[in-house]
This record gives sequence, structure tokens and C-alpha cells, in this order.
Amino acid sequence: RSLLVLNGPNLNLLGTRRPETYGNTTLADVEAQVRDAAEAADLDVAFLQSNHEGALIDAVHAARGVHAGIVINPGAYSHTSIALHDALEAVQPLPVVEVHISNVHRREAFRHHSYVSPQADAVIVGAGVHGYTLAVAHLAHLLAAGG
Ligand code: DQA
Repeated sequence: RSLLVLNGPNLNLLGTRRPETYGNTTLADVEAQVRDAAEAADLDVAFLQSNHEGALIDAVHAARGVHAGIVINPGAYSHTSIALHDALEAVQPLPVVEVHISNVHRREAFRHHSYVSPQADAVIVGAGVHGYTLAVAHLAHLLAAGG
């Protein structure tokens, strides 16, 4: 079984963008950590980062029947994208874990609401890039429990 790990806009700049908020780890480093966590749980993993809302939506649609779960950091689309909400709704009951590297609730008010969260089985906020590894562990747990 395999997981799909989606990263939205500007997350390609991880490691250089606001390091005081997002840390120094690059997206390539995060993906390597996630691959290790997935391997330990006997899961394959596929990655996509896109700065384009439609590309993320296409990837969600394509996950159905291919992947056993989705980890998604939708970046700023969390706060704007009803379309991403609807795409995730359309692939239910595929388990979804939403990740935010920063504690969005400690930041600007416009980051406090996520259109994606109602479609997520779990939301991991403010754990830094470790949140991705936690998300993989939770999906492995859900799948082992019979998902
Ligand atoms: C983010 C939080 C969002 O508000 C922001 O737009 C991002 C990253 C996070 O991982 O903390 O791009 O999703």
C-alpha cells in the first residue's frame, strides 16, 4: 500500500522561506524523512509539490484506487480553497491527514480557518516538519486498524 504526500504553494521554498517560522529543513529533506517513516511502516510513498491549485486537485482525484491515504499541507490554499475541500470530499473515505508546519493558531487571523480541515481525519499543527512523520504514523495506524 502507498501514501500520497501533497505539498501546496511555496513549500518548494522550505528551508529558505521564513526559517524562523518554517525551519531550515528543505522539502527534499522532509521527503527523505517521510520516506523513512513510510518504509518503517511498510508503506510506499509518492510525493507532489505544486504551486497550482488545479494540479493539487488533479492529484487528489488520481489518488483514488491508487493510494491508501493522503498527507496534505495545502499551504495558503487551506485558507482559500473550497475546491480542494470538495476534491477531498469526493475521494472519501480515503483517509486524509492535514499538516501545518507552523502553529497557524498563533499567527494571523486569516490562517485560523482551514477549508481542508473538515475533510481531514486528523490535523497536525505546529509540530514543525516532524508533523509529516506524525501524519505518516497516524495513517499507518488507521490502515493497520482496518482502513
Ligand atoms: C502552512 C501555513 C499556511 O498558513 C501558510 O500559507 C503556508 C504553510 C504551514 O505549513 O504552516 O504556506 O501551511
